[in-house]
This record gives sequence, structure tokens and C-alpha cells, in this order.
Amino acid sequence: MSKVWSPKDWRSKPALHIPNDYPDAQALSDAEDELTRLPPLVFAGEARRLTAALGNVANGNGFLLQGGDCAESFKEFSADNIRDTFRLILQMAVVLTFAGGRPVVKVGRIAGQFGKPRSSPVETIDGVTLPSYRGDNINGMDFTPESRLPDPQRLIKGYHQSSATLNLLRAFANGGYADLYNIHKWTLGFVSSPQGERYRALAEKISETLSFMSAIGVTPESHPQIRQVDVFTSHEALLLNFEQAMTRVDSTTGDWYDTSAHMLWIGERTRQLDGAHVDFMKGINNPIGVKCGPTLEPDELLRLIDTLNPNAIPGRLTLIGRFGSDKIAERLPRLMAATHKHGVPVVWSIDPMHGNVVKAANGYKTRPFDRILSEVRSFVDIAASEGVHPGGMHLEMTGQNVTECTGGAFALSEEDLQDRYHTHCDPRLNADQALELSFLVAERLHALKDKSVKAA
Ligand code: PEP
Ligand code: CO
Repeated sequence: MSKVWSPKDWRSKPALHIPNDYPDAQALSDAEDELTRLPPLVFAGEARRLTAALGNVANGNGFLLQGGDCAESFKEFSADNIRDTFRLILQMAVVLTFAGGRPVVKVGRIAGQFGKPRSSPVETIDGVTLPSYRGDNINGMDFTPESRLPDPQRLIKGYHQSSATLNLLRAFANGGYADLYNIHKWTLGFVSSPQGERYRALAEKISETLSFMSAIGVTPESHPQIRQVDVFTSHEALLLNFEQAMTRVDSTTGDWYDTSAHMLWIGERTRQLDGAHVDFMKGINNPIGVKCGPTLEPDELLRLIDTLNPNAIPGRLTLIGRFGSDKIAERLPRLMAATHKHGVPVVWSIDPMHGNVVKAANGYKTRPFDRILSEVRSFVDIAASEGVHPGGMHLEMTGQNVTECTGGAFALSEEDLQDRYHTHCDPRLNADQALELSFLVAERLHALKDKSVKAA
């Protein structure tokens, strides 16, 4: 019989992208101990509810919308920011549900998305080399030796920020803000944009539908879901010492759950089969994701599926493709063909952000909207031809009016990037671009649905 899993087992495996240069090992271990005593951020029952919702997506009924900051930061932590991200998720979900005709599972990259894997452990500016910035719960962004030193107290600060963020999200989700009867109030962020107009028209239609439904007796009293939504949290499970400290036995089932978020994912750089991250994730019972990049081969993917979802639970595992608009046509079909044939249920989702980074002539790291859209379109088309359900979309986006990705309806140029480039890591879609993408995807999904109805 195989050995019983424990949340600390990962420590004996090769662990990439976890900082090992904390100057004071005792201070780190004290911070980890403190985290083990702090309350869970989410409940196991909520994580199971998300698995069930994703199980429906895996079975072809529904769509996963996962999105938020590339990296949350201590500096940009505010109620307005959280509200704007929440509102954007709701708006996109409305578009995808109503225009795309699918129930949408809403998962934020929020309330814990701090630590980042970096392409280089060091950064050199004007001949000075310092450790790279690795996310606010590890070190600081300022380019000074002090700021770049890992500080264990940042893990504690990240925990408390996640806790306050979740508290507000729960209030927004259940306290009236998300009430569909308030749908017009959600348009406030879009003063005069083309997507805003389109969204307002859709909101108008939904309001009419609600009046009709209430006239025939479908009211918030009989259907409380009109007044509230389920919004779940997720982040990359990168810092396994933090995740270990948050992993607890659920008193109802006796199973291990990582209580730092509802859903966790393994990044493209840490998905080695014999590595620490896969070992950790196989033991927790939350729904999990794995990023699938352009070097992943079908046999390796199937081994990951068998390791991470040995009981073939629908909704347990989401595969998040991130190939790049120029590589997806070559890489994705064989992966989808393999998972389809293999038969273990998975959700296939697309991250059109991480394979589409380019450097602008003025030095900014950006992502052209056209490439993002093109990768999503290819994803939907490839899924259709492989007989796989195009189950979701994973985005880096913000409710703020930033200028980080070029293109979109406002045709942001490379020169515009300098206006409001605020990200702590990768360039994000602004609210208008994210909504535009949702409309375009909704149309595509709708067309696909029509086709399958006709074919049936
Ligand atoms: C991310 O999602 O922020 C990320 C680092 O992605 P990937 O692991 O796909 O590079
Ligand atoms: Co990123």
C-alpha cells in the first residue's frame, strides 16, 4: 500500500521557485507556525461546492470564468479595487451567461494571488544586480537590497489582506450588491465606452426579463439566487510552506483541504511530475488546476491527470492551456485528443495571457489584444473539432482603467502604455478590454451551441 500523504511531504522533493534565501530561518519557521494557528480562509464545504460546479462544466454544461490580477499587492489594496474586480467578474459573467447561454462559474484570481515564479532569480539595472521581485508576500518591488530581501512577516501580512479581501467579497456576493435587480448599478464603471453601451443594452434586456419572470411568479422570494452569487477564490499554489500551513483536516469528511483558497493551481514552471508542487496538490481535496504550456506532451499530461485525479472526479481537475496565439494550433489538438480518449473528466480552459507577452518598442512588457482574442478563438474551434467542451477562460485583468495591453476597441497603442501602467507583474486587460473579450467569446460559444443543436 502506498504511504499516507502528509502536507509536509513536498519538503523532500525538488521544489522550484520557492525562495530559499530568507536571512533568518528561525523567523521564517516562526511565521509558518503562526500561520498554522490562524483561522482557515475558506471552508472545505465551499471547496466541494466549487468542485461540483466545475463537475458540471466538465460534463459540458457551463463555463468557468477565472480572472483577476497577475499579482495582488499591498499598495493597491483597497475596497474600491476589490469592488471593481468583483463588478467586472459579474459583468463578464452576465455577458457569458445571457449572450452565451451558459451558467458561469465565477472564480477570482484574488485573496491570495501574491507569489510569482520569475524567469530570472536576479534583475540587473544600470550594472547593479539584485534578487528579482517575487511578489509582495515574499519581498518588495523597490530596487534596493533591503527591499529585495525575503521577509517572513510578508506571509502574515498577505494572509490578513486575503482575509479582509474575502470578507468584502462575501459581503458583495451575499449582501445585496450582486442582486440582479441592481444590474444597472454595475454599469457605473463604464462612462462612455463602446462596451459600456453594449453592456447597458444587455442590462436593459435582463431587467425586462426579470420583470416578466416576476410577473409569472419567479421572484427573489421563490428564487433567492437572483439576489446573490457564488464567487470563489483562487491563486497559484506556489509557496508551499504557506499552503502547508493553511492545510487542515476537514472535520466533516476527515479529508485534507488547503483552506487558503477554494481553488489552487500549479503553474507552468512547477508542474514536474516528481516535483514538490505536484506532490502537494495530489493530497489536497480542493478543485485544482494545472497550466499546460507549449512544451507539454500528451503522455506527460496523462500522467499528471492520473496522479492528480486518480479517482476521476469531475470538477477536480482543470487544465489551463497557455500556448500563445502562434503555437496553440500546433500544440493543443494532440493534448485534447489524448484527454478525450483517456476519458478521465477534466475541464479544459484557456489562459490567453501568458503565451502572448511581447516587448513594446518603448520597453514595456505588453500583450496585444488581437493575439489574446485569437488564442481564445482557436481554443474554441479546436475544442469543437476534437469533440471537447471549451470549458473556460483564465484571464489577468483588472476593473481599473489601466493601459497595459495594446489594442481593443480603444486601439491602445504602444505609446499609450506609459499612461496608466500599474501592474505588479504582467500586463492585464482593463475592464473595457475584458468585457469586449467576453462579448466576442459569448458570440463564439453561442454559434457553437446553435451548430450542435442543429446537428442533433
Ligand atoms: C500566472 O498565471 O500568473 C503564471 C505565472 O502563469 P504560468 O504559470 O502559466 O506562466
Ligand atoms: Co502573470
